[in-house]
Amino acid sequence: MLSVEAVSKTFGGVQALRNASLSCAAGEILGLIGPNGAGKSTLVNAISGVLKPDAGRVRLEGKDITGRGPEFCARAGIGRTFQTIRLFKDLTVRQNVEVAHITCRAVRPDVAERIDIDRLLAQYELDGVAHALAGTLSYGSQRRLEIARALALGPALLLLDEPAAGLNENESEVLAIAIEGIRQDVGCATIVIDHDLRFINRLCDRLCVMDQGQVIMSGETSEVWRDPRVVEVYVGQSQPA
Ligand SMILES: Nc1ncnc2c1ncn2[C@@H]1O[C@H](COP(=O)(O)OP(=O)(O)OP(=O)(O)O)[C@@H](O)[C@H]1O
Ligand SMILES: [Mg+2]
Repeated sequence: MLSVEAVSKTFGGVQALRNASLSCAAGEILGLIGPNGAGKSTLVNAISGVLKPDAGRVRLEGKDITGRGPEFCARAGIGRTFQTIRLFKDLTVRQNVEVAHITCRAVRPDVAERIDIDRLLAQYELDGVAHALAGTLSYGSQRRLEIARALALGPALLLLDEPAAGLNENESEVLAIAIEGIRQDVGCATIVIDHDLRFINRLCDRLCVMDQGQVIMSGETSEVWRDPRVVEVYVGQSQPA
């Protein structure tokens, strides 16, 4: 479904990505983990067209989408959230979701047909604030709105950059259940970045571990934690659950 092949990216003197490769199948939840600065957000930005890789290829359903830009990628069915929330703050909650739905209607009307905005707002506990400006919402509600907006795009691939950041244990558990629900309802491929390893281990079928711009290990969640290289990267950091 998604195939990232040997993607590299340098910012000034910093090599943020070095030949990073991964793949993600439809219906799969892949965890992308690694220490601060490992290159996780940069990789997701390269996949979603937010930045153009210096080398390598990104393919969605076999089609080369490398460096095609964020709008092209959104229209191709890549929905995402950002590590630092990026909503249309001066639009209402409902309008934020509608903008994504309009994009979906333009390119994949059959998919858009199946998306019910009111149901989506209710699912993400946003129905009571549908007419509030997005910028006035609490942090937790803004995070939920980002996910609802990404889903209104009818994504074939959903990228979630630290969706559980700033949530308490109970909220993280509710979020994990919601993401599993997305897998069932939408059947999209999902990539989740997070530092909360309990959240990641509970949720993800497979993990991809990054360190210093490289993907150092990919595999089933339990298998990855048995690899000494992965344990080494995490020594002195959060311990696996
Ligand atoms: N726009 C940019 N300009 C310059 N350097 C950047 C830029 N974006 C990322 N970097 C650098 O690239 C490296 C990888 O950053 P990235 O944000 O991808 O890491 P990350 O794994 O997402 O980290 P974190 O867990 O802290 O979010 C870091 O050294 C970072 O400082
Ligand atoms: Mg990041």
